[in-house]
Amino acid sequence: MNAPLRNPPLPGDANRFDTASAAQMEQLVMDLRQMYHERNAALEEVAAAHHEALLRLALAADYRDTDTGNHILRIGYLSEALALLMGLSSEAAAMLRKAAPMHDIGKIGVPDAVLKKPGALDPEERRQMNEHAAIGAHILGRSRIPLFQMAAEVAQTHHERWDGHGYPTGLSGEAIPITGRIVAVADYFDALTMDRVYRRAFSVEVALSMLAGERGRSFDPAVVDMFLAHAPALVALRERINDSGCAVESLAGAPLLHVRRFLAEFGTAPAASPRAASEMTT
Ligand SMILES: [Fe+2]
Repeated sequence: MNAPLRNPPLPGDANRFDTASAAQMEQLVMDLRQMYHERNAALEEVAAAHHEALLRLALAADYRDTDTGNHILRIGYLSEALALLMGLSSEAAAMLRKAAPMHDIGKIGVPDAVLKKPGALDPEERRQMNEHAAIGAHILGRSRIPLFQMAAEVAQTHHERWDGHGYPTGLSGEAIPITGRIVAVADYFDALTMDRVYRRAFSVEVALSMLAGERGRSFDPAVVDMFLAHAPALVALRERINDSGCAVESLAGAPLLHVRRFLAEFGTAPAASPRAASEMTT
């Protein structure tokens, strides 16, 4: 006696219908998959175009202030290196490389007479100059894309001070996001070692000693200690970026160099246990 079939065949018409439905479902799934990939590619393209446009705006602001766009490029790579040394994940550090160069984008809103003034600023000029942090955060902070949210956070907080006497909100200590604390140190060192309208560049030795003097005052002592401990590698990284020419576009695409590998080749091993990107903000 034959055993009963566990899945008896459907009557002829219903079976044909089922086969046709399955084919349609399969086609629908393929169409949805393709639409999903096309949508993601389009979003990535829009984000990259958005990033490049903002980088060019940051570059325009930087040209007004420094005569060269290399400053913002160096800030990106120095910040990535410091982030790795501070134990942030490779992903978070790479995002900071892209976000940090936009930290002074708000200078686009500061009058030339203030930005390029060779002497000391009077109180009103100082107020106008200090507004660049909030202007930058406003320009960058309208996006839901994590990169621009990080860039807005950096723009907003890179002039806060560890001792609470910074601007625009007077945050202190670890209430300042680690992104802002890192970029503040990278920006300070890099600015000291380049010519400005009101002074010549300081030597690396003098700049490092000035950085040490701001430990626990302007800057997070842990970030300053890390910078000083790895100064030869960071100075070499700075030189490597200088030698590469001004390639700001690279910040929106493939990096000019692999920073973790550069540090490792230099004998500097970043911390082994990366902190999650979620720990970067307060
Ligand atoms: Fe600034």
